[in-house]
Amino acid sequence: MSDQIFEIVRTYPDPVAQKQYDNLVGIDHIKNRLKIEAAVILNPAGITTWSESFYKKEVELVKVLKQRPPLFIFAGDVGTGKTALAESFANEIANTEKVNITLFKLSLSARGSGIVGEITKLISESFDQLRKEAQSLSGSKSTLIFFIDEADALAQSREASQMHHEDKAGVNALIRGIDSIKDLPIPVLVIMCTNRHSSIDPAIRRRSAVTFEFSRPSQEQCFSLFKSYLTELSITDEEIKEAVSMCIPYDGLSYGYTYSDLTQKVLPSLLLNSYPDNPVTFETLTEVIKTTPPTTPFNEYQGS
Ligand SMILES: Nc1ncnc2c1ncn2[C@@H]1O[C@H](COP(=O)(O)OP(=O)(O)OP(=O)(O)O)[C@@H](O)[C@H]1O
Ligand SMILES: [Mg+2]
Repeated sequence: MSDQIFEIVRTYPDPVAQKQYDNLVGIDHIKNRLKIEAAVILNPAGITTWSESFYKKEVELVKVLKQRPPLFIFAGDVGTGKTALAESFANEIANTEKVNITLFKLSLSARGSGIVGEITKLISESFDQLRKEAQSLSGSKSTLIFFIDEADALAQSREASQMHHEDKAGVNALIRGIDSIKDLPIPVLVIMCTNRHSSIDPAIRRRSAVTFEFSRPSQEQCFSLFKSYLTELSITDEEIKEAVSMCIPYDGLSYGYTYSDLTQKVLPSLLLNSYPDNPVTFETLTEVIKTTPPTTPFNEYQGS
């Protein structure tokens, strides 16, 4: 059933997700904003209680807030933590708001062939499933997140299409879907990730309650990431600082590493270049950095 459409169905609270969330460093500004924004959508009773306790009624501004489409966009360069955060933050909300959350993940670039009709169908069927799921959970303390990863396919399919009437089919399906979940018996939040924010249809961008911008780590963020792994390996702060200056920006380039370059290439190589005969040293670290170029930025983020 739903597992044929969705790639991942995950429920929270989930201690594994907490660990993944905690491992994402340097994005506290995003985490903090996301926590409060998601909490008011997934537990709307909370803000009503707040309003009643201070103003003895649900004030107009709370009503305005609740009118917003339950859509967040995570936009930014490759390997900057969009997918990792989207798949892990729900644990925090489940714990603080005392709700059960089920996340349904659909990855458009993996699943849609780029043919407009196919993506449109996928989106419509996903929302059908979500509505059914929400109806069946009516009356419980359950909430749903619909996570559309790699949503660029929505934009790509429009570019590929020559026919005007098909142009906006996927976009319209998404808008219809979002509109259709507002009145379900339990809260549903939609999250879209994209590398190509500027090519997402303006109608969707306008609807997003919040757009979170993800970027490559700054020197400070790179420092805290290195520090969280290297201090216990006896690499000093001075050495980490020097390594950071080689990474951000990277030798002669206008950009530096992505988070995933650091966690999936540089740090693992450092370990494997030391194992099995030697402990980790600063010299090995600089050697690995010199031989590991950063991922080229996605066009849109070049030079930023
Ligand atoms: N802020 C961070 N702190 C630590 N590690 C991070 C951070 N962001 C990303 N990573 C690491 O990079 C990996 C890849 O991140 P993720 O898949 O979330 O990137 P993405 O933004 O979704 O990229 P893409 O646009 O290519 O899909 C994560 O699994 C994690 O190991
Ligand atoms: Mg991703």
